[in-house]
Amino acid sequence: MTTTRFSALIAERTRSSHSDSEGATFMSDLMKGHGTKRDYAELSAQHWYIYEALESCAADLADDAVASPFLAPELRRLPQLERDLEHLFGSDWRSEISALPTTAAYADRIREVASSPASFIAHHYTRYLGDLSGGQFIARLVRRHYGLGDRGVEFYDFDQIENIDAFKENYRMLLDSAPWNDIEREHMIEETLLAYRFNSDLFTDLHRAKVA
Ligand code: HEM
Repeated sequence: MTTTRFSALIAERTRSSHSDSEGATFMSDLMKGHGTKRDYAELSAQHWYIYEALESCAADLADDAVASPFLAPELRRLPQLERDLEHLFGSDWRSEISALPTTAAYADRIREVASSPASFIAHHYTRYLGDLSGGQFIARLVRRHYGLGDRGVEFYDFDQIENIDAFKENYRMLLDSAPWNDIEREHMIEETLLAYRFNSDLFTDLHRAKVA
């Protein structure tokens, strides 16, 4: 008898939510070259609020026995993201950006569940494994379509990770071996579905803001 790995179960249970996020109009337009450099800049701005929440909560969880193995320092994105924003908006980027409603709710939710490692890791997994997966493809297309070179797209460069596939496999093994019972595993999957919903809703907000 073969048992499904927990990491494979998460991927399976969230497949259609992933497709919804990937296929959102704002994202698919951006990927097809039908967006603008400004659209990409707006997306990066929203990322700042999300990663600020993720990475400040991760710092608070550094001593948590369950969460800490997932919190590899080489995943940290804020320094790269801030360099991107400086390039995209100029040195005054902080006063140029603001959180859209979904972004604010998403960041609040991350902070709210940070006391529960399984729920926090759901958010961590959804963003960082996504950045290490489709994110690599997104970076190539954004560079190509919107005339960005080395600067402005550093967010997707994980220079300190030598082998992305091996890193992702190790992360999946951490998910498989986390000491969660069935109820906690179910919470983790539910929270991952919620994280995908925030990402899809954010694309809707970005699309609305653009057409307005
Ligand atoms: C244009 C948009 C996107 C594309 C083209 C894309 C593409 C992909 C691909 C090809 C994989 C599989 C990689 C592998 O097997 O190693 C993947 C995995 C993943 N993506 Fe995306 N993706 C996109 C958007 C997103 C978004 C918006 C999120 C959520 C924030 C996301 C989260 C994930 C996650 C968590 C995984 C890892 C699944 C796992 O191995 O458990 N992706 N993506």
